[in-house]
Amino acid sequence: MDGNGRWAKAQGKPRIFGHKNGVEAVRKTISAAAKLGISVVTLFAFSSENWRRPEEEVAVLMGLFVTVLSTEVKKLHKNNFCLRIIGDKSRFNENLQKKMAQAEQMTAMNTGMVINIAANYGGKWDITEAMKKIAIKVQSEELQPSDIDENLITNHLATSNIPEVDLLIRTSGECRISNFVLWQLAYAEIYFIPICWPDFGEDSLIEAVTWFVDRERRFGCTDEQIS
Ligand code: FPP
Repeated sequence: MDGNGRWAKAQGKPRIFGHKNGVEAVRKTISAAAKLGISVVTLFAFSSENWRRPEEEVAVLMGLFVTVLSTEVKKLHKNNFCLRIIGDKSRFNENLQKKMAQAEQMTAMNTGMVINIAANYGGKWDITEAMKKIAIKVQSEELQPSDIDENLITNHLATSNIPEVDLLIRTSGECRISNFVLWQLAYAEIYFIPICWPDFGEDSLIEAVTWFVDRERRFGCTDEQIS
C-alpha cells in the first residue's frame, strides 16, 4: 500500500492525510476482493523498517491501526472474514497488541476470505523466525536435518496456513519488493501500478486481476506443456 505520503504531499497536505485516506482504499479493496471471490488478501501495513520514520508519523500510524481495528472488526466479522495479523507483534504497545489479539480471536472461526495484515513484518524476519523454530525442533530431535524441505519451511512461516502468493500488487510506481513476503512470492505474478494507494479501489483491483488471469503461469515448464 505505497504512496500515501506522496499522494498527500501532492495536495499540500501532511503525510498522515494520505494514511487516513489509505484506510478508505483498504475498505474498497477488501470489498472488491470479496466480490471477486479472492480467498486471501494480504496488506503490507507496516514493515520492520518503518520504525525508522519520524516518531510523530509512527505514533499517528499506531493510533490509526488502533482506530481501524476498533471500528472495522465487527464489520469484518459480520462478513465472515477471518483477520490475521502477521509480523512481530511484540514491539507494539500493550493496547494495540490487545486489540490485535481481540480482532484475531473474534474472527478466528470465520470461513470466508482471509485478510492478513502484515504489521512490523519483514520477509527476512519471517524466514529467520521459521529457521529458529526448525532449529529448536532439530535440537530437541523432534526433527532430523534430513526432514528439512521446502514444505517444512513453508509450514513454519507466518503465512503457513494459506496458499503461496498468486498476485502481488505494488502501488505508487516503485518496482521493488521491499522485504515483503519473500519466500511466498517465488512464483507470484508481480503487478506494478503507478497510482498511489489512496487512489486504489475496485476498478484498479479489477484491472490487476484482469491482467493476472491473462498471464501464462508456467512454473518452470514450457508453454507447450502448459497448453
Ligand atoms: C506506505 O505509504 C504506507 C504505509 C507505511 C502505511 C499504510 C497504512 C494504512 C493504509 C493505514 C491502515 C491500514 C490497515 C490495514 C489497518 P508511504 O507512507 O510510504 O508513502 P510514500 O512512499 O509516498 O511516502
